[in-house]
Parts: sequence; C-alpha cells; structure tokens
Amino acid sequence: MTQKSVIVAGATGYIGRAVVAAALARGYLVYAMVRCEKSAAFPEHPNLSVLQSKFSPITGWNIQLPNADAIISCLASRTGTPKDAHLVDYQMNAGLLKLMRPLIGTRFILLSAICVQKPRLAFQFEKLRFENTLHTSGQPYSIVRPTAYFKSLCGQIARIRKGKSFLCFGDGTQTACTPISERDLASYLIDCVTLPERHNKILPIGGPHPAITPVDQANLIFDAFGKTPKIKYVSPKIFDIFQAVLAPLTPFSEWARNKRELMKIGQYYATESMLVWNSDQEIYDITATPQTGSDHLGDHFTNIARGLTVHVADANTQIY
Ligand SMILES: NC(=O)c1ccc[n+]([C@@H]2O[C@H](COP(=O)([O-])OP(=O)(O)OC[C@H]3O[C@@H](n4cnc5c(N)ncnc54)[C@H](OP(=O)(O)O)[C@@H]3O)[C@@H](O)[C@H]2O)c1
Repeated sequence: MTQKSVIVAGATGYIGRAVVAAALARGYLVYAMVRCEKSAAFPEHPNLSVLQSKFSPITGWNIQLPNADAIISCLASRTGTPKDAHLVDYQMNAGLLKLMRPLIGTRFILLSAICVQKPRLAFQFEKLRFENTLHTSGQPYSIVRPTAYFKSLCGQIARIRKGKSFLCFGDGTQTACTPISERDLASYLIDCVTLPERHNKILPIGGPHPAITPVDQANLIFDAFGKTPKIKYVSPKIFDIFQAVLAPLTPFSEWARNKRELMKIGQYYATESMLVWNSDQEIYDITATPQTGSDHLGDHFTNIARGLTVHVADANTQIY
C-alpha cells in the first residue's frame, strides 16, 4: 500500500493540531502549513514537514504545494469580524484552491461549521461563499460541518472551580448539541481522504448521541467537579440591548461594528441549536444529525477535574 499524504492548512489551530497528530498516528506523510514556524512548535517527527507560508489578498500564497492525496483546511478567522472572516474563511481558502489546481486528484477537505445551515453572521456567509466556490470548482472535495467542539463547552469551568454559578441563556433547555472532541473530529476528517461515501458531499457531523442542553452541560460539569449545581438564568435579550447601544456608532466606528458582530455571534449561539436543521418541519432534528466517535463530554469534564486532560481554552480565538 502506498503511503498517504496530507497537507494541513491552519495546522496550529485546535482542530488543525489534532488533525496533524491523527494523520501522523496513521502513518501519513504530513505537511503542516503555518504562518510562523517558531511558534508552531510541533514535536519532531520523521513524517512531518512544516511549510511556513504567508498569504496576501493581492498575490496569494507565497509557496508551492507538494503533491498530496488531500489538503485539509482548518483555517478559520480567530475574531469572526467581517474583514477577518472574508480574508481567512473565504480568500485564504480560495487561494489554497487556486494553488492546488495543478495537483491532479488532490481532494480539498474543508472544515466548515454546522451553523452555516442557518446563516446570519458574517463568518457564516464567508464560509458558505467558499463552500460554493469549492463545490463548483470541479476539484474533488468533502465539506465537513461539525457541531459544537468540546473546547467551546469548557468556557465556564473556571467559574465553577471558583464556586460561581453556571450561566444559562433562557431556561437552558431551548438549545442542544451533540459535542464532538477534537480527536474524533480529526479522525473523521482524515477518513474523508479514503472513504468514497464521504466524497463530494456536505457532511454535517456531531459526537455521540444523545444531544445535551446547556442545563445538561452544567450538571455534567458540577458532577465532574463534585459540586452542588448552581445555575443562573440570563435572558438572551441582553444581546439585543448591547446591539442597540452600539448601533448609533457603527456608521463611524469599525470597533463598534466588530463589537456588534460579536454580540450577534453570542446571540446566535445562545439561541440556536448545533444540530441538523429540518427545514420541512422547521425544527432542529437530533435524528437527522449524524454521529461519530466515542468521546463523551462528561468524561472530558471528569478528566479535566482529575488533571488527566489539559483544559483547552483558546484565548486567541474570540468566536466561541
Ligand atoms: N468552536 C466550535 O464549537 C465550532 C463548531 C463547529 C465548527 N467550528 C468551526 O471551526 C473553525 C475553528 O476551528 P479551530 O477552533 O480549530 O480554529 P482555531 O483554533 O482558531 O485555529 C484557526 C487556524 O487558522 C489560522 N489562521 C487564522 N487566521 C489566520 C491568518 N490571518 N493567517 C494565517 N493563518 C490564520 C490559525 O493560525 P495561527 O495559529 O497562526 O493563528 C490557526 O491555525 C471555525 O471555522 C468554526 O466556525 C467551530
């Protein structure tokens, strides 16, 4: 059997790093694209090459890509602001697609997001725009739209450790998701290289069922840390108030526009489920949400409480 090879763009991100590790564990040749080789700090591995590369919206990427079975793009705006989302989620990915054109048969595996199915946010429109470019490009592809990551559901651990309440929007039962670990998602993305049933498809994917609500999530954290549950309920209308306060400033101030977009993002995740949307019935549908992997969020919280897993909370990423 010939050795498989993948190029991982956005290799320094939460999912990108997991993809690099999983591909190496499977014996793949891995080319990790990074913007700064020094800060990328990957462990030495004979099958890993680091490709330092820069992108300019005018001249494109400043490298040539090696031949590979697939490119897995885990590039993502770290801020979610309209400008950055356009640059990273659309232009950089479109630049990669252009760069790989001479590579015959190389599959473009795109890390997207399940939330693009009901788009309201700038970064969702940029992702959709690139999904569409990829879909119509003639290049083999797989578009993976995952549900909520474990890291995004760990944000309140620090509060609970300090004895504070878990904060829920609404009554904490109106939204739900099937959380997926970075390890299970990385594995799913790499399987897109070889599994024909994942080729040239849009693939929503979550972690193991059942779906959990924010109240379930709170109970899992309190249980893992051996504390009595304390939940505070906050109206999601708070996001409307912040947006209304910022609105008069937005024609003059990019700062205000960016803050307003962040409020919209917060409101979106406070009110929408991360499950497949059934447009006929107008409901989020757990039965239509595919599942993969074996990592459960409750075990993840327990491992963090016992010090067995590093608690990943990415201070550089503002979106979640
Ligand atoms: N969080 C969730 O629950 C969730 C759920 C479903 C889908 N998603 C989607 O998953 C993606 C986020 O994945 P993630 O958490 O792995 O992302 P992440 O940790 O924020 O990583 C983003 C990657 O993109 C690179 N990047 C960003 N801006 C760049 C720029 N200007 N130039 C070069 N490289 C740049 C980063 O490089 P540096 O390390 O150099 O900054 C990093 O490698 C988003 O598209 C999101 O919509 C998230």
